[in-house]
Amino acid sequence: MGDEPILSVRNLRTHFRTDAGTVRAVDGVSFDVRRGETVCVVGESGSGKTVASESITRLIPIPPGEIVEGEVVFDGVDLASLSDREIREYRGGRIGHVFQNPQGALHPMHTVGRQIVEAIRLHRDAGKREARERAIDLLDRVGIPDAAARFDNYPHEFSGGMKQRVVIAVALACDPDLLIADEPTTALDVTIQAQILRLLRDLQEEFGMSVLLITHDLGVVAEIADRVVVMYAGKVMERGTVYEVLENPSHPYTLALLDCLPGSGGAMRPLGGSLPDPRDPPSGCRFHPRCPHAVEECETGDQPAMGAAESPDHEISCVYYHEGYDETAIRERRAAKVDGDVGRADGNVGRADGGDGR
Ligand SMILES: Nc1ncnc2c1ncn2[C@@H]1O[C@H](COP(=O)(O)OP(=O)(O)OP(=O)(O)O)[C@@H](O)[C@H]1O
Ligand SMILES: [Mg+2]
Repeated sequence: MGDEPILSVRNLRTHFRTDAGTVRAVDGVSFDVRRGETVCVVGESGSGKTVASESITRLIPIPPGEIVEGEVVFDGVDLASLSDREIREYRGGRIGHVFQNPQGALHPMHTVGRQIVEAIRLHRDAGKREARERAIDLLDRVGIPDAAARFDNYPHEFSGGMKQRVVIAVALACDPDLLIADEPTTALDVTIQAQILRLLRDLQEEFGMSVLLITHDLGVVAEIADRVVVMYAGKVMERGTVYEVLENPSHPYTLALLDCLPGSGGAMRPLGGSLPDPRDPPSGCRFHPRCPHAVEECETGDQPAMGAAESPDHEISCVYYHEGYDETAIRERRAAKVDGDVGRADGNVGRADGGDGR
């Protein structure tokens, strides 16, 4: 498994030029995916998860999209520097992609078998028979009962959960080194969600691949992630091992997300406020307008640089973790601010101690 990442995304900026202004969907995002591990990207709707993941193999529409800056190094090759023809070799080849919208993923007029066979033959020198055998084997491995008979069925002949398994089989057709799965279970009911997640985990072990899983469900993260990247408004707020991020969540945004986790009733509590306009994001920390701990330092300049928390495997973009700030002063102001914040009496998002913000 080695320590060298299979994927290294550095300072990625993907913008969309629209008549109404430039949408800074992804605005300086960095993270790694190591070999054989699952990295989950979490964050509210609109935080840039899909755009970031689709920028990896340049699947975003260009124009209006543009990868303004950044490196995407996959197994030593900077994908951002490849031609369109060269990058197509990676798409659906060494990098499989399960899209957020499963509707568009399968062609309604082609049998599922044909679609998997085509995915295999697009990247591999496989004969028809060999590809067919492999397709049936894949359908079987993703848990389609009676796979050989189902080979000739059309997508509409499958239930939602089974269709999503087929979509995963297509993405696995070329035995990818990296599988990008964008909310692969959101459209499905809870039991099926759990099945698909277990399936992903099993397949990952079996195929020895890395997985970049996008979700806004922290329950899913707890179940499947090795590492977590928390995104907000086009920026990374926190990243680290699943243990660090879930056991020792440190960015106020992560704390707020965890606070929104469904309780036993299953209902998710909404996070107060809303995402900033991506055409005109706030200065300073992008979360500061919604942050119960924000002080003046949070409002000016750029998003704070990533700073190490207590563990080297855990980094946070927050002034409380940034060297050079007067921690005692900030802590005092933060305590005063939280006390005075009547509107959000419960707003200290899980860290009511106001204390060890470091
Ligand atoms: N083609 C496009 N043109 C203009 N803006 C776009 C385009 N695609 C995405 N965006 C904008 O980029 C931002 C990030 O969108 P993205 O789809 O990556 O969010 P997300 O985190 O995946 O959200 P969700 O959880 O809802 O899937 C949003 O503000 C979105 O409106
Ligand atoms: Mg998305």
